[in-house]
Order: sequence, then structure tokens, then C-alpha cells
Amino acid sequence: MKFFIDTANLDQIREAQDLGVLDGVTTNPSLMAKEGITGRNNILKHYVDICNIVDGDVSAEVIATDFEGMVKEGEQLAELHEQIVVKVPMIKEGIKAIKYFSDNGIRTNCTLVFSAGQALLAAKAGATYVSPFIGRLDDISTDGLNLIAEIRLIYDNYGFETQILAASVRHTMHVLECAKIGSDVMTGPLSSIEGLLKHPLTDIGLEKFLADYKKGN
Ligand code: E4P
Repeated sequence: MKFFIDTANLDQIREAQDLGVLDGVTTNPSLMAKEGITGRNNILKHYVDICNIVDGDVSAEVIATDFEGMVKEGEQLAELHEQIVVKVPMIKEGIKAIKYFSDNGIRTNCTLVFSAGQALLAAKAGATYVSPFIGRLDDISTDGLNLIAEIRLIYDNYGFETQILAASVRHTMHVLECAKIGSDVMTGPLSSIEGLLKHPLTDIGLEKFLADYKKGN
């Protein structure tokens, strides 16, 4: 399973990259705003800065919601860097744009997906990635992980190549469960990746090994 980090914070992206297990970055307009990145030119420059830190794919979201606007914006984003994947919302015009990008060799991430039907449509249109938001479903008492399992089943039934990118991951158990289901990718905060490191028996064991070593040296 690929690990993406869901942030526009360059320090956190560097930290995840330094760990050596990072495969990509996802961003969205809210994450950009959180880092105080505003204005078209600053946002475009920020995407390039992210691409220069990480080795893998970097999702950059279109703001337009009409087909022509999305195509224009998406082509501009794709031109920025070869690692850019154009993030397109799951709306009717978005599906048309994903099909256009797919036919023209531009990779896409279909975002704001909350149902298996939406994921089926994204795959039919040729999306490179589909982003079901599991945390936001959990927030409204709906099982987000079940959606990942449904999409996995549907994609496997027909051999769709669209990669399932479990998004809105909130914690380490989401990461583990996504891995068990067979999600292709997960994107979450740095803490959701670092949580995988932790086990008290590892800490206790290491402490004892080091203490025993000191006794004999
Ligand atoms: C996905 O690409 C989105 O940026 C993200 O995962 C949304 O997560 P949130 O629900 O924590 O905002």
C-alpha cells in the first residue's frame, strides 16, 4: 500500500519524506489555506515546492466547477511538474473532465467520493485515483472502511486500474484496516503513519537491551 501524506505543510512533508516511506502528497484548497498559501501564483509555486521535496505523485486540485474551466486549470497544473496529478471533484462536469484528461494522458484523482456508485463512475471515466473520504463518513455514523471494501470488490470484479486512495484517514487504525482490505493508497496526517511505529513492548525491550549492554561494558 502506498503512503501519501495529506497536508500542504512543507516541514511535515520533509519529515515524512525523511522517514523513507512516503509515496506521495495530497492537498486540497482547505489545506492550502491552513498554511496561509493564497493567490493563484503562490499556490502554483507551492505545488512545485512540494514536488521538489517528495519523489511521488502530488495531487493538485482544480477550483473551477465547469468542464472548460477544469480542463484549462488542469492542463496548467499538469504542466507545472511531471509528478502532478490533477484532482477533480466528483460532479457531472468533473466526470467529463476526468474522461478528457484520461484521453489526453493527464493523470487524475477523483475527489469527494462518498459512495461505491461514484467510485464506479470515476473508474469508468478513467480516473488514475479515486478518493473515498472515510473519516468524513465515520463522522456521520456511516462506516467509511466498508466503502473501501465495496469499491475494492467492484474494481476487482472488472479489473479496473483506477487506484483506491483512501482519503480523510484520521488515525493509525484507519491505515491498518485499509491495508487489510487492500486499498492501493492511503492519505492521512503524519501522525497516522508514525502511529504504526508505536508499541510499549518495543520500548521496554529496547530499554532492557541497552541496560544489559551497559552492565557488561
Ligand atoms: C483528500 O485528498 C483530502 O485532502 C482529505 O483526505 C480530506 O480529509 P479531511 O476529512 O480530514 O479534511
